[in-house]
Amino acid sequence: MKGVVLAGGLGSRLRPLTAVTNKHLLPVYNQPMIYYPIQALVNAGITDIMIVTGGNSAGDFLKLLGNGKAFGLKHLNYTYQEGEGGIAEALSLVEHFTAGDSVCVILGDNVIEGNISAAVRAYSEQQRGAKIMLRKVPDPQRFGVPVLDGARVIRIEEKPNEPKSEYAVIGIYMYDREVYDIIRTLRPSGRGELEITDVNNAYIERGEMTWDELEGWWTDAGTFESLLLASNLVAETGANNQELKSEAGISTTV
Ligand code: G1P
Repeated sequence: MKGVVLAGGLGSRLRPLTAVTNKHLLPVYNQPMIYYPIQALVNAGITDIMIVTGGNSAGDFLKLLGNGKAFGLKHLNYTYQEGEGGIAEALSLVEHFTAGDSVCVILGDNVIEGNISAAVRAYSEQQRGAKIMLRKVPDPQRFGVPVLDGARVIRIEEKPNEPKSEYAVIGIYMYDREVYDIIRTLRPSGRGELEITDVNNAYIERGEMTWDELEGWWTDAGTFESLLLASNLVAETGANNQELKSEAGISTTV
């Protein structure tokens, strides 16, 4: 299984912090933001990793990360996203890298307390389709929100005004090789981007989506409030803790 960290975008919600650098290079407590998602993949045994970057300071990722020595890696792969096409468009850029293999995608501003090892193992046994990870949050309207029928996810709504559950779809996704064909069928959303939520809804419609609940805290770090929260959480408890189980054991096929 290949790993992909999505670290493009203009980080406009964090201006002026992102006026001269990329959001994912900003500090979260004592490390650059992008260290956390890379470590999350490495902890799950995923070591063949591509970083998708773009926007400001793309070259600084190479200076900072090099060949991934800080994570015990021998090599890192990089690619460049032009413009602001969205998460699904960024993912389309790794098709040649994954070369028929499945992929675990993590958004470069997502920080987790625990690890995703068990979910990655479960997905490997699933062999096809996709897996998303859910986490209860106090403010689901900021995220992709699953519509649940019992334990079944029947649809995901992107940033709904009236969320139909207390869960967020967190920024860690696992897909089989079909994902690129699905992305080719997408049309830009109201915000002019190819949405990862549309990719996930396509897998739900095919009956090929599973979900696990993440254990431990999770946050993105793309706003002033969540960037501060991420730093405080890391300072208080540390991130990417190997001791925490990766999920509460809920795993459901829709
Ligand atoms: C993106 C996704 C959203 C997901 C979130 C997780 O939102 O569109 O579904 O819940 O990441 O961090 P964005 O950060 O692009 O607004």
